[in-house]
Amino acid sequence: MQKDLLRIYDLSRADMDSIFERTADLKKKKKNGTAYEPLKGKTLGMIFEKASTRTRVSFEVGMFQLGGHAIYLRWTDMQLGRGESIADTARVLSRYLDGIMIRTFAQSNLDELARYADIPVINGLTDMCHPCQILADLFTVIEKRGSYEGLKAVYIGDGNNIAHSWISAALRLNFDLTLACPKGHEPDTAIFERARKEAASKILLVQNPVEAARGADVIITDTWVSMGQEKEYRERIKAFQGYQVNEKLLDGATKDVLVMHCLPAHRGEEITDGVMDGPHSVVFDEAENRLHVQKAILELLMSKKQDVLRPEC
Ligand code: CP
Ligand code: NVA
Repeated sequence: MQKDLLRIYDLSRADMDSIFERTADLKKKKKNGTAYEPLKGKTLGMIFEKASTRTRVSFEVGMFQLGGHAIYLRWTDMQLGRGESIADTARVLSRYLDGIMIRTFAQSNLDELARYADIPVINGLTDMCHPCQILADLFTVIEKRGSYEGLKAVYIGDGNNIAHSWISAALRLNFDLTLACPKGHEPDTAIFERARKEAASKILLVQNPVEAARGADVIITDTWVSMGQEKEYRERIKAFQGYQVNEKLLDGATKDVLVMHCLPAHRGEEITDGVMDGPHSVVFDEAENRLHVQKAILELLMSKKQDVLRPEC
């Protein structure tokens, strides 16, 4: 694996399989009550420019369980909020910490931090992607179905950070992915076209959610209004009418379809209560698996002295 985890596209299939393997082992150890502390004496800094429940708590608990320590750093409480450069922040934090997890708006902030930090940097969500979430989702699929091989995954809704990471996962792991997005809310063209050209599997973009959901093994959705888009709320709710994951939409899917949502959910908007709380939903398993997958990532990136690779320097 490279020094950092910045996007799914940077991972090979072998990288992802080793994350899933370590996740299974770490989850088993936790369930059996076996103490395992490979990160004793190590500290993770967690920088947040946006809100979070799952990411913050699962990373902090994960570090604690691995014998290490985590520090919560709010962007606006740091000198970053007063204009200190990301590069200087990276240089300074590398002198104190053993790893950084960051949730920020621009992917370029993350890339810059990783470029100037001598320690591993992990993407805890940007406007462009959310790799830790999609790794947890895929681990959940493996737990429930044995494998991601031969899957038809369907993403319904906004072509956002979650959609982008699913697109890169389909490209790397060779499963079929259909996205149904309303006009004007499609995924980033460069990310989609690159995947469509490079993938051995089928990666399709359609407008009709009912057509997309036909024969789906996994249906994924996400909020229609991501963090930072609050001012567009009314216009977005209107644009996404017809894209709700509801009981009717599941009629066309396979009979044991898995329904996934990274959470937080907006019940009654992108997903109904009936589906969220129904037999197909694995949303809380996904949320739990954030903890186990991220422990595997932390262990892989932080437990040994990394040879510092800076691919873009
Ligand atoms: N899914 C996810 O990243 O949740 P939070 O925004 O609560 O961290
Ligand atoms: N697309 C959502 C995901 C939240 C975990 C957002 O960026 O707000």
